[in-house]
Amino acid sequence: MVFAFFGFEFRWTLDIFVSLSFLRVKHFEVSTMGKIIAIANQKGGVGKTTSAINLAASLAALELKTLIVDADPQANATSGVGINPKDVEASIYECMVDNVDPYDCIVKTDNKYLDLLPSHIDLVGAEVEMVSINQRENKMKAALADVKKEYDFIIIDCSPSLGLITVNALTAADSIIIPVQCEYFALEGLGKLLNTIKIIQNRLNPDLAIEGILLTMYDLRLNLSNQVVEEVKTHFKSMVFSTLIPRNIKLSESPSFGVPAISHDAESKGALAYLNLAKEILEKNQVEAA
Ligand SMILES: Nc1ncnc2c1ncn2[C@@H]1O[C@H](COP(=O)(O)OP(=O)(O)O)[C@@H](O)[C@H]1O
Ligand SMILES: [Mg+2]
Repeated sequence: MVFAFFGFEFRWTLDIFVSLSFLRVKHFEVSTMGKIIAIANQKGGVGKTTSAINLAASLAALELKTLIVDADPQANATSGVGINPKDVEASIYECMVDNVDPYDCIVKTDNKYLDLLPSHIDLVGAEVEMVSINQRENKMKAALADVKKEYDFIIIDCSPSLGLITVNALTAADSIIIPVQCEYFALEGLGKLLNTIKIIQNRLNPDLAIEGILLTMYDLRLNLSNQVVEEVKTHFKSMVFSTLIPRNIKLSESPSFGVPAISHDAESKGALAYLNLAKEILEKNQVEAA
């Protein structure tokens, strides 16, 4: 099993090695107010939305004004902070396709430091509708240009695809967090994602940095989890966040209450891990929390 695991990984290892050798891995820059961080990985179910909601809520708990941008038509980040996507009148879709003012779309959450630019199922159509639009990769960047000044951090939850909406998110972003699930096939598709980042750095957003690789759903008792941690750290070294996100029931059940884990159970291991991640990011960016 272990042998098979590494055997399978070999193909991706090569793929990633090739990508890494071309990728301009930028490191953290000083002074980051209004920093836009996209959470992306085209693999589904790796913890993008959970990380977007709980990282944003942790930054807000540290009294940093934070906006979650839900860039996934499934709108899980929207419902995860207690907004019913059916009640959303104007979403990121209208901002990008119809040039609606984002301030008319942003909604408040229960935390005064945390706002949401919601999604809607209509976003599914945006990829097709934007095909003939000029500067179609820059629509999200344009929508957030002014909004950026109002927030300390903007966290974009991407969909499980590398389509036009994700390209827009990576064009708008200052940096990317890549969640990697501590599971079998963890590294699958990472080469393709790194390659996309490289293309975006070359053509659309030369300043796009890699904030870090985030290991999610870690289970201390499982050999496989520990093997994945080792494997990812071997490849990506200092790019990997020190904070490991554990598999934790409070993280998976809090969306059904429409709140981040920190509001559901602030002492839970999941909530504390995301608070640690927020502090790690602030430290690396040399930002002082309140
Ligand atoms: N650390 C975790 N512990 C337990 N369950 C988790 C954790 N992270 C994510 N999940 C659950 O795994 C599923 C996929 O996570 P999600 O964040 O929606 O992934 P993605 O946005 O990448 O598709 C969800 O049901 C979520 O509640
Ligand atoms: Mg998601």
